Amino acid sequence: MSAVIHLEQIRKSYFMGKQELQVLKGISLDINRNEYVALMGPSGSGKSTLMNILGCLDSPTSGKYILNGHDVSKMADNDLAEVRNKEIGFVFQQFNLLPRLTALENVALPLIYAGIPKKQRLDMANEVLKKVDLTERSHHKPNELSGGQCQRVAIARALVNNPSIILADEPTGNLDTKTSYEIMSIFQKIHDDGNTVVLVTHEDDISKYAKRIIRLRDGVLESDRKHEQVEPV
Ligand SMILES: Nc1ncnc2c1ncn2[C@@H]1O[C@H](COP(=O)(O)OP(=O)(O)OP(=O)(O)O)[C@@H](O)[C@H]1O
Ligand SMILES: [Mg+2]
Repeated sequence: MSAVIHLEQIRKSYFMGKQELQVLKGISLDINRNEYVALMGPSGSGKSTLMNILGCLDSPTSGKYILNGHDVSKMADNDLAEVRNKEIGFVFQQFNLLPRLTALENVALPLIYAGIPKKQRLDMANEVLKKVDLTERSHHKPNELSGGQCQRVAIARALVNNPSIILADEPTGNLDTKTSYEIMSIFQKIHDDGNTVVLVTHEDDISKYAKRIIRLRDGVLESDRKHEQVEPV
């Protein structure tokens, strides 16, 4: 099996004056293609910090990170942005959609940076909007959509580049229970389609969708176990 993500002794510290706050204290980890991982742990344990490093939104203080064969731990910002654009689809708790753009335009946005012509961009965006069942809302702006619909747009945007890995930091954190399950069934479908998914959650019910659960505590890996997938309720 080929590792999409390979981490060796990843450390991250924040410095407040002379005070060093160690947030990640040597994380080593492999995630293989087509895995579905839930990242759990108490508030402040370093989950988002780790996700931001995995997503190339932030760099580790030390350690090695190989993403789909690229040694991203040594990359300068420009190269990192290019790798991020190609390899990563990121879904945030707050959706992070651009308010002035329609659902379709939001989804097509990453393809501008990839240099794809407009007609093809819109075709590709329409295609992924179909996957998240949002075709009839494609010309609506985020403030005309429900939270669950906004998150579906954000998931479509994360998928449109056909990235190596989908990262989602508490994607159901702002949604009610029923909508959370709808969103989780979309992640399920994405995983069934052959994608690699890493998702942060606080909730046991949500983590049951994943096939592997990694727990962080105080910046170290507390446990890493595989389990049979429980059927969605
Ligand atoms: N930019 C920053 N500067 C200083 N400290 C930071 C910064 N970002 C995060 N931290 C600290 O790092 C620790 C881990 O934060 P992180 O956001 O990774 O936790 P988390 O596990 O995602 O928590 P939650 O479940 O509440 O989202 C916290 O103590 C936090 O205060
Ligand atoms: Mg967090």
